[in-house]
Amino acid sequence: MSKYILPVSVFGTVFGCAVLLKNHVTGGRCPSKATINGKTVVITGANTGIGKDTARELAKRGGRIIMGCRDMEKCEAAAKEIRGKTLNPHVYSRRLDLASMKSIREFAERIKQEEQHVDVLINNAGVMRCPAWKTEDGFDVQFGVNHLGHFLLTNLLLDKLKESAPSRVINLASLAHVVGKIDFEDLNWEKKKFDTKQAYCQSKLANVLFTRELAKRLHGTGVTVNAVHPGVVATELGRHTGLHQSQFSSSVLSPFFSLLVKSPELGAQSSVYLAVSEEMEGVTGRYYDVMTEKEPAPQALDEEAARRLWEVSSKLVGLEEEGQHDKSSTSAEGWSKAAQTQRQTLGPAVSAAGL
Ligand SMILES: NC(=O)c1ccc[n+]([C@@H]2O[C@H](COP(=O)([O-])OP(=O)(O)OC[C@H]3O[C@@H](n4cnc5c(N)ncnc54)[C@H](OP(=O)(O)O)[C@@H]3O)[C@@H](O)[C@H]2O)c1
Repeated sequence: MSKYILPVSVFGTVFGCAVLLKNHVTGGRCPSKATINGKTVVITGANTGIGKDTARELAKRGGRIIMGCRDMEKCEAAAKEIRGKTLNPHVYSRRLDLASMKSIREFAERIKQEEQHVDVLINNAGVMRCPAWKTEDGFDVQFGVNHLGHFLLTNLLLDKLKESAPSRVINLASLAHVVGKIDFEDLNWEKKKFDTKQAYCQSKLANVLFTRELAKRLHGTGVTVNAVHPGVVATELGRHTGLHQSQFSSSVLSPFFSLLVKSPELGAQSSVYLAVSEEMEGVTGRYYDVMTEKEPAPQALDEEAARRLWEVSSKLVGLEEEGQHDKSSTSAEGWSKAAQTQRQTLGPAVSAAGL
């Protein structure tokens, strides 16, 4: 028995210290006390995880919060909880499925009609390491939801953001971008063997490249855009990974893991910092590791790749096509026809080869 005492107590001490120190070493709270009364914030994927806590914190600071979620029951339950906890009645749930371009267009249209301004757009929603699923429009789900969906949404809200300047766009990227590669010949995993980890990393690299290219294109407009890695946060993001697949891992390993990583409340602090802090005024095109600016991986600094990704993405989501149509085709319905033509032109499953 005694031979176990030393290793067990060493393990216990290390584990205890790790739990106690984790909040300190993984970044603390947003230092800014700024309030945002009268400002409108749109947050995607706000029914759970980092998005929900971001919505709550920004509601506490007085914002008008629009939560864009695919599951209206979960969305309204979260909105109700936030209204109750913050006593801010201006927290709204709106339907947004980022795996459907039609849904994204309907959501954006509603925002444009109902909101006088959009001061902050937080592209938060994400999926990680899911099987080789496709979106409604035939894109790989991780590329489609994490990158293309937010690319389209942001572009559709750009006029509103410009009218509301100074305004801010925040893209939830990830440290995972450092091992990401953009495969322009096969963005949607149709030619090579599907690798779910790499698909996530590609989508997160796309978030950083999109941030940099958008910042360039928005130069002089008063709209800023930055990307952030929120740290490792105990959320539902790992729902498709091994950790959540077996009874043992979800009931034993997962709670143990949760003790070592940040709570969603702390995980939301970096989005809050980028959204409200005075220090972030005018700052654009940067990548933040929690609340510290860092240089992203070399492949995220590739300007030619960023430009090319923008062009490919515009084509895939039908924005290029739309530019050639009159204004009537920008409604969700009008676009649907234009997009169908676009997809037929691009071929099934949208190979981006040659773009
Ligand atoms: N947690 C981390 O350690 C970590 C680390 C680095 C980066 N991030 C990034 O942080 C962001 C937030 O992740 P999280 O950790 O808070 O994950 P989460 O708890 O799984 O929350 C993700 C949110 O995205 C929503 N979503 C997924 N697919 C969607 C779709 N098609 N349309 C609309 N909403 C959709 C989910 O809705 P449902 O509930 O309906 O599925 C959920 O609200 C993600 O972009 C993620 O890549 C997280």
